[in-house]
This record gives sequence, structure tokens and C-alpha cells, in this order.
Amino acid sequence: MPDWYASAMTELKGGHWIVVGATGGLGTAISRLLAREGARLTLSGRNPDKLAALARELGEAVVATIAADLSVPSGPAAIASAAQSDTGVDGVLYAAGVVAFGPLGELDDDTFDEVLLLDFVAPVRLLREILPQLNAGSVVVHLSAVVAETPMKNMAVYSAAKAALSGFSTAMGAELRRHKVRVLDVRPPHTDTGLHTRPVAGQAPPLGTAHGVEAVAQRIVDAITDGEKDLPAAAFADL
Ligand SMILES: NC(=O)c1ccc[n+]([C@@H]2O[C@H](COP(=O)([O-])OP(=O)(O)OC[C@H]3O[C@@H](n4cnc5c(N)ncnc54)[C@H](OP(=O)(O)O)[C@@H]3O)[C@@H](O)[C@H]2O)c1
Repeated sequence: MPDWYASAMTELKGGHWIVVGATGGLGTAISRLLAREGARLTLSGRNPDKLAALARELGEAVVATIAADLSVPSGPAAIASAAQSDTGVDGVLYAAGVVAFGPLGELDDDTFDEVLLLDFVAPVRLLREILPQLNAGSVVVHLSAVVAETPMKNMAVYSAAKAALSGFSTAMGAELRRHKVRVLDVRPPHTDTGLHTRPVAGQAPPLGTAHGVEAVAQRIVDAITDGEKDLPAAAFADL
């Protein structure tokens, strides 16, 4: 019998996707592409005004919106609750996150907490909360980062949080495979969303030329539909 996992292409049309961090640069670009492909979307972000504007733009594709703070346990739980429907969930894309820069000695406890909560703990909590709603054949997508593969100085806590998310994704992929759920760890390179201009601490070092957000978003959606199992930084090299 052919293994489901080996040929797990994903049809987006009519599927119910949750996009968390939909108000961010990558989250918005990916939400637009999912809507264009005919997915039904539950959108989440922190900023209610940005969330409402995106929902207006995407119109009938949006079945629910939920403004939630992911730094507290009730945030992921509220998203799971808002996404409940008769159809279940066919995809979850976690595109929220924060970055911090600077040598370790200059980072305070609040910075540690915020980076670890947003970049690691919240997607773990969200997946646990959403598990009962995941349909067979669904896809869970986590945006970790190139620094999960190549940790950088002055970005040690961010690099470590992203490496933790990447490891979690790999382990959950193995754990959920028997439920026909694919977990895709995406490790994008520096992308022109402006993330590095609004760190929770420090100042960005020179990061080189940024990739275009639309091209990065399209590559991620292609990986979802084509059944790819992993999306390393190298997969974006030719964009
Ligand atoms: N851009 C890059 O170069 C790059 C490279 C590799 C990986 N990534 C990763 O890709 C993901 C998306 O990045 P991006 O560039 O699109 O960043 P972005 O434009 O700054 O978006 C960040 C998102 O996170 C949300 N967020 C931040 N703090 C939150 C909180 N406490 N509660 C709930 N939501 C919160 C923001 O919500 P509001 O806007 O509503 O406040 C926004 O939707 C991040 O995980 C990032 O680490 C980015």
C-alpha cells in the first residue's frame, strides 16, 4: 500500500486554515495567497485594527478573526476556540514572532521571556490546543528561521528559540504522521518585512540583502501544496 506521507499533496481549495500572525509581513502575504487558492481562513493577530483591515480585504475567504496576545497561555487557547467549526481544521500556519538583538549581557528577563514565548512556547501551546480539530491530511506550518540552522552571535536567544521550534516541528512530524498530519518546518532567510526594524531589544547588525516577501510567501505555499516535508533556508536561495 502506498504510504500517505510519501505522496501527501495538499488541496487548498475549500480547506479551513488558521493563520496566526496574519497581521505580520509574511502572515499577510501568505494569507492572501491561501485566499486566492480558495482556502477558508481563520485569521489571528495581536493588533485588532490590522486584523480587521486584512479581513475586509480578503472578504468571504475569512470565516473568523481573533485578536489574541500570544505571550499568555489564554492566547493560543482563544485561537483554537475561535477556529472551532463543523469542518475541522485542514491547516495551521504559525507566522507570529519577535526578534531581539544584542550581546547576552545586555538582554533582560522580559526580553528572554518575550522571545521564548512568541518564538517557541506559543506555537507549542497552539498545536496542543488545536490537535483535536485537525483533520486527516492537514498540514501544520511553523516559520522558524535560517538562524535555527546557523545560529548567529548577538542573536543567541532568538537563534536558540528558533532551533527549539525547528526541533519541536521535526518531533511532532514523527508523532502526528500516523494521524496523517504533516508538520512543515520553514526556515526562511532574511526577508523584507521590516521585522529587524522593530526588535523587542537591541539593534540589528548588517543582515545583507533581504528576500522579497511575496516570493518567500509563494515558496512556502508551493511547499504546502506540493507535499514538501522540510523547507530549509537553502530552498529560498534561487528566489
Ligand atoms: N522577516 C524575516 O527576515 C524572517 C526571517 C526568518 C524567519 N522569520 C519569522 O517569520 C515569522 C514572521 O515574521 P515577519 O517578518 O512577518 O514579522 P512581522 O511582520 O513583524 O510579524 C510578526 C507577527 O507577530 C505578531 N506578534 C508579535 N508579538 C505578538 C504577541 N505578543 N501576540 C500575538 N501576536 C504577536 C504580530 O502581530 P501584530 O502585527 O498584530 O502586532 C505580527 O502578526 C516570525 O516568526 C519570524 O521570526 C522572519
